[in-house]
Amino acid sequence: MVTIRESSLVDRILKLKKTRNAVILAHNYQLGEVQDIADFVGDSLELSQNAARTGADVIVFCGVHFMAETASILCPDKVVLLPDAHAGCPMADMITAEGLRQKKQELPGATVVCYINSSAEIKAESDVCCTSANAVKVIESLDGANEILFVPDQYLGDYIGSKTGKKMILWPGFCPTHLRIQPQHIVRLKQEYPQAKVIVHPECHPEVISLADEVLSTGGMCRYVKESEAEDIIVGTEIGIIHRLRKESPRKRFVPVSEQAICPRMKLISLEKILWSLEDMAPEVKVQEETRLKAKAAVDRMLEIGRG
Ligand code: 13P
Ligand code: SF4
Repeated sequence: MVTIRESSLVDRILKLKKTRNAVILAHNYQLGEVQDIADFVGDSLELSQNAARTGADVIVFCGVHFMAETASILCPDKVVLLPDAHAGCPMADMITAEGLRQKKQELPGATVVCYINSSAEIKAESDVCCTSANAVKVIESLDGANEILFVPDQYLGDYIGSKTGKKMILWPGFCPTHLRIQPQHIVRLKQEYPQAKVIVHPECHPEVISLADEVLSTGGMCRYVKESEAEDIIVGTEIGIIHRLRKESPRKRFVPVSEQAICPRMKLISLEKILWSLEDMAPEVKVQEETRLKAKAAVDRMLEIGRG
């Protein structure tokens, strides 16, 4: 049900969006009310592809900082707004450019692959970027690379290593939200829903991954649910995605592995903050040009490879 608050905010946002020639992009973990007003809802790869081709002058990015930054890397002439400047990704903050430079000196022969959940400075120090939707394909494309330094998510890196057989050196970063999803939760839910399929995100712990039927990006989960015959689906990722899954497949039952799997930074974005950001044209995310050009090379290389 749409409340009076929501409908009045939605009206004002839509008017202002037109005046500013803005597009609203939202990640699959955003609050339902934010997803519902967005022009496009997707995973990190889809959002960056969308940002790269939009004709709008302004991108209102409803997600976390590295996502808005990637849009700014790809579209330097557009104004990229992140409605709450504090919406950062804790995993992306687990590595610094100085730390990465030091590691590169220790491993001069390694190819550096960064997860998109990283700052522009980290992307600028990397050979190629990847998302959870194309990580395996990106690593497989690196024919001559014998040794890969993967940053910052150790669990995604571990998963790709197991899929490709490549020698991976892993930065010890992790997603605090996905670590709330625990193997014993899945074991219990499988007993309760024996017919259910289990889908999990590759940021989960390897023990969780070993219990899943499918390991997918959030966009991959949305596609899987539409195509699958399964009526019950156990979902191992941030619970914001359940809103979209229920909307697209209302007859299916979605059971989150953990109700505690909430990313607090993703939830900082609200309709009020979207409206204020369009009114004030702030907070803006912009990357310094020298860093942007280096980071863009790693992101472009990923976009050429596309989805896995
Ligand atoms: P996706 O690219 O799969 O949407 O994942 C982004 C993310 O931050 C997962 O925690
Ligand atoms: Fe970062 Fe995890 Fe939140 Fe994704 S869910 S934005 S990886 S903290």
